[in-house]
Amino acid sequence: MDDLLLDLVLAIAHHFLAFLLAALIAVELALVRPGLGTVDLARLGRVDSAYGGVAMLLILVGIGRVVWGLKGWEYYVYYPVFWMKMAAFVAIGLLSIGPTRHIVAWRRAGLATVPDAEVSRLRGWLKAEAAFLALVLVFAASMARGVGY
Ligand code: HEM
Repeated sequence: MDDLLLDLVLAIAHHFLAFLLAALIAVELALVRPGLGTVDLARLGRVDSAYGGVAMLLILVGIGRVVWGLKGWEYYVYYPVFWMKMAAFVAIGLLSIGPTRHIVAWRRAGLATVPDAEVSRLRGWLKAEAAFLALVLVFAASMARGVGY
């Protein structure tokens, strides 16, 4: 595959996965409502697994863009905005550990209804993830244009 085509394919996959991740956070927020019960908890479990899978693919494709992208890896590794984007992405990963552990525990315990206080805590985490995702996009667009290089 020629370099330009590879760069294009990786960029398309990267955007696709990034939008998918945003959509999955939105679906999680729509499911995590007061009165969250068994059926939505099962849906939430599946959505959360998909979320983990998409995040992993995003990392792989992202690394692919660093290694095989047209600018070359040297462009990114000495570039603070790239590392700011990585830090914001890691923050999303860390914020998602709590929700995943809770969802698994609630499903294992066979809870009929999740207590409202827990639901509201989970929504807080998900909103924080969405806020960091917005930050990732700001850094991504800045990084693509060499802002602060
Ligand atoms: C939530 C996770 C991520 C989101 C939402 C995201 C989003 C984006 C977006 C929208 C762009 C295009 C920017 C533009 O052309 O204006 C981009 C570019 C890029 N991203 Fe990501 N990204 C994420 C994670 C990653 C990761 C984990 C890596 C690397 C390990 C990575 C590496 C790159 C690279 C190398 C580019 C190309 C920038 C350029 O054109 O110079 N991304 N990202």
